[in-house]
Amino acid sequence: MNTLIKNGHIVTAVDDYHADLLIDDGVIVQIGKNLTAQADNVLDAQGLLILPGGIDVHTHFDMPFGGTTSSDDFETGTRAAAFGGTTTIIDFAIQQRGHSAQEAFETWLGKAEGKAAIDYGFHMILSEVTPVTLADMGWLVDRGVTSFKLFTAYPGVFMVTDGEIFQALQRAGEIGALIAMHAENGSVIDVLVQQALAKGHTEPKYHALTRPPQAEAEATHRVIALAEMANSPVYFVHLSALQALDEVTMARDKGQAVFAETCPQYLFLDYTNYEEEGFNGAKYVMSPPLRTHEHAPHLWRGLAGNDLQVVSTDHCPFCMKEQKILGRDDFSKIPNGAPGVETRMSLLYDATVRRSRMSLNRFVEITSTSPARIFGLFPKKGTIAVGSDADLVIFDPEGTMLWSAKTHHMRVDYNPYEGRVTQGEIRYVYSRGEKIVDNGQFFGKPGRGQFLVRNHFVKP
Ligand code: URP
Ligand code: ZN
Ligand code: ZN
Repeated sequence: MNTLIKNGHIVTAVDDYHADLLIDDGVIVQIGKNLTAQADNVLDAQGLLILPGGIDVHTHFDMPFGGTTSSDDFETGTRAAAFGGTTTIIDFAIQQRGHSAQEAFETWLGKAEGKAAIDYGFHMILSEVTPVTLADMGWLVDRGVTSFKLFTAYPGVFMVTDGEIFQALQRAGEIGALIAMHAENGSVIDVLVQQALAKGHTEPKYHALTRPPQAEAEATHRVIALAEMANSPVYFVHLSALQALDEVTMARDKGQAVFAETCPQYLFLDYTNYEEEGFNGAKYVMSPPLRTHEHAPHLWRGLAGNDLQVVSTDHCPFCMKEQKILGRDDFSKIPNGAPGVETRMSLLYDATVRRSRMSLNRFVEITSTSPARIFGLFPKKGTIAVGSDADLVIFDPEGTMLWSAKTHHMRVDYNPYEGRVTQGEIRYVYSRGEKIVDNGQFFGKPGRGQFLVRNHFVKP
């Protein structure tokens, strides 16, 4: 089956032009003016914007965490992603202490198999670094899992020592992998949490008050030093605080291979959300927490100046009714995480275009091209070019979208952006040339998504 998309306004990270696109066997085979090829399917994209499909490199589908499991699985999560214009996700498999990373890889392949409707890859979370996990890192890289997440937070669960981080960094440098860091000082946070609870401070806002920006900055600084000593690149996930950004900026200014992502919640929400009435602040309990309003302008500056290269979602939904409620009387028992896989592209498109935060090219770069480059998927993914997969999101710039838990496709009973209207309407989404979203209708079959064997890390 081939498809001809006519009269589109095509925007990539570097281009902006009007042309037709011919897609055959899932791949873009021709781009040009007035293409005359006979096609099985023809779409007239007059007045519409054609962009590379979004790549969300930070999702947690079907993830056991905080005594429960994230509420989207690979079927509902990838479907919601597609509705939101995302055509590739990289999810986190988890090596549990005492279990092998090879076993975790098989488990996560099983979770996605028969369910994922868009293409997917995995990072591997390492809960410990031992001779076995160090060996497994090589085994995983050979299978296309070329990035590993480690934590300086969650003592007793995911937190590893500086020595373990250092060894993993060294090993990653040797085998062409990338270490992704969750940087918060877990030991200090634990003390602050116990002190808060001892004073009877149990409401959701204390989640934020016990995870100060300095705890993120300290861990970011420490890991940058470890990466420098290991002579290895490092990538910070879900960077939220201006002090952490300062650490990343300083390291990059010195020429160190340091990369970082932020997430929409840190750009569009803030600490005051924790003060919503009743237990509603639990909706925003995630780590790192939402920061006070003065942080976001610095994150926008970081994105504009390329000290932040990626916006991912950290999509990790838990329902208010049965899951967040576990922490009704103790904020430290609220499962950490929030939904966002469906809203990322629209929130950023809206911010980009309507509020002129950045160019359309930069929007494409931070939502698709840079993620593809950093995580070994470019140029198969992340651009519109002859030979690339035909993963496309087609926006009507004149349309709008209204966000609500009543209409979104994520399997979660609230939307952090309830009632927000974003400029730009996602009309069509193509995954490897197949139209999987058409004006609010879903045509992607569960299981059609393919596992992506990612390339080694190469400094972009
Ligand atoms: O609160 C969060 N971020 N939940 C997901 C797990 C993680 O640390 O990314
Ligand atoms: Zn994390
Ligand atoms: Zn996460």
